[in-house]
Amino acid sequence: MGALQGKVAIVTGAASGIGRASALLLADRGAAVLAVDRAPEVIDTAGLITGRGGRADAVQADCATEKGVAAFVAQAIRDFGRLDILHANAGILGAFAPTFDEGPDAFAETLRVNLIGPWLAIRAAVPHMGKGGSIICTASVAGQRAGAGGVAYSASKAGVINLVQTTAQLLAGTGIRINAVAPGLVETGMTHALFDAARTRGREGKIGQLNPLRRSGEPAEVAEAVAFLASDAASYVNGQVLAVDGGLGTSHPFAPRPPGS
Ligand SMILES: NC(=O)c1ccc[n+]([C@@H]2O[C@H](COP(=O)([O-])OP(=O)(O)OC[C@H]3O[C@@H](n4cnc5c(N)ncnc54)[C@H](O)[C@@H]3O)[C@@H](O)[C@H]2O)c1
Repeated sequence: MGALQGKVAIVTGAASGIGRASALLLADRGAAVLAVDRAPEVIDTAGLITGRGGRADAVQADCATEKGVAAFVAQAIRDFGRLDILHANAGILGAFAPTFDEGPDAFAETLRVNLIGPWLAIRAAVPHMGKGGSIICTASVAGQRAGAGGVAYSASKAGVINLVQTTAQLLAGTGIRINAVAPGLVETGMTHALFDAARTRGREGKIGQLNPLRRSGEPAEVAEAVAFLASDAASYVNGQVLAVDGGLGTSHPFAPRPPGS
């Protein structure tokens, strides 16, 4: 029997990348999954799950509007009768690198999707969750320090980390836990252009070289951390940020000495 047998999960941003990997793994561990995304490929994610014998449904919605969030939470209850796990994961990159050229509208859109979206989903989900409920937000190493994304993106992910800490306090006494995963560089829909550009230039071997594992991560590796935090195995882990970054965050930048010097 899977560790999540009998539980019901909502995963946002489930059409692609980390969200799809999370939806598949939570289902493999026994959860019924409502996959949510604004992209139509979310239907394929639910199809992959049911094709493997799991329970799933899909909703196409904007995860950062009150209307969209209310609709998918209601759908989860309608489909599966309860709610135990929320993986608030949908996100956008905005400007790839820090720049003062990112205007207020683009900045606000990144905050809306990446920060207000998870808050709306948490607020709508909590009334349906009981003791043992688990919320996982996808933050990023970009939210922990500079150097991994644009200004709005990084600020939004720093906001997600504080959202998790503040909400853990807000949920005191409920038995509902909330944590974040903070992935490093992972090849997904969000980052494939970066990987493709490196491959085109024959520089794919340079990707991920700043972390001690000397490689980028896989969506399934982030999903493993999500599945742990979702499960009762993490029953005393609350308000934390679990970096899934190959050890990137363990060091300040330094210039490695050339061999033999
Ligand atoms: N890929 C990385 O290197 C990396 C690193 C750290 C954190 N993250 C975070 O992981 C999460 C998942 O991203 P990914 O890398 O899998 O990228 P992705 O582009 O493959 O997946 C993101 C999904 O979110 C959906 N989405 C975006 N805005 C939405 C909205 N308003 N409503 C509904 N769906 C929406 C997209 O359609 C897409 O399917 C994001 O929060 C991202 O910031 C990614």
